[in-house]
Amino acid sequence: MSTERTPLIAGNWKMNGSRAEACTWAEAAVQAAAGASNDVAVFPSHPWLAKVAGILAESRVDLGGQACAAEPKGAFTGAVSAAMLAETGCRFVLCGHSERRHVFGETDEYVGASLAQALEAGLEPILCVGETSEERAAGRTQEVILRQLDAGMAHLRGASDPLVIAYEPVWAIGSGQAASPAEAAEAHGWLRARVAETDAERAEGVRILYGGSVNPDNIGRFLEVPDVDGALIGGAALDPNKFGAM
Ligand code: PGA
Repeated sequence: MSTERTPLIAGNWKMNGSRAEACTWAEAAVQAAAGASNDVAVFPSHPWLAKVAGILAESRVDLGGQACAAEPKGAFTGAVSAAMLAETGCRFVLCGHSERRHVFGETDEYVGASLAQALEAGLEPILCVGETSEERAAGRTQEVILRQLDAGMAHLRGASDPLVIAYEPVWAIGSGQAASPAEAAEAHGWLRARVAETDAERAEGVRILYGGSVNPDNIGRFLEVPDVDGALIGGAALDPNKFGAM
């Protein structure tokens, strides 16, 4: 982990938690973050965003949305716009989380357009990339994650647009089988080098999170990797003790 890049520990709650649980998790995150030197963010389900925003107010914990639409507004039943997330108090939004790509069928084009909407609304997109186990077995990891990166970065409007990248191998998400630190190091190196091809300064500063079965026992090994600048945590973020420990 680079000393110049403040690590970001992000908890993605996915479609979990009652309103009461969301409040409990948010309060625990506020307490845990109070003494931490890293940045912390939580990603509640959309219905709880406003409630959680109130709990996080004045705290060191930032709020994020789990996805935003590729259009600014209109007849898109069930979708949530980037501007709505921003107005609810979000700083971040996940773009192209593996479940959005593989369960909901979001394409590179859709993810790119949602990233553009995020920027337009003043949000910091967290562009998620990652290969399936079949793609890894076929030796296509680098090709796939760089294609996903390029498709998202094509929508940056300029050098000052914010961006966070999350490398989340699909096979590691929710499986209990995290990537090895060496596998993360290799992928993060490819991603940072690709960013450097177009913007050396951004490559130095961009935070690249690792995600996929991160827990209190293995997070330290990932954060030791020079190109790993934090973690995107799913399952373990639903346990306030575990999230607090990380
Ligand atoms: P996991 O999920 O930590 O449960 O593997 C990570 C994610 O989907 O962001």
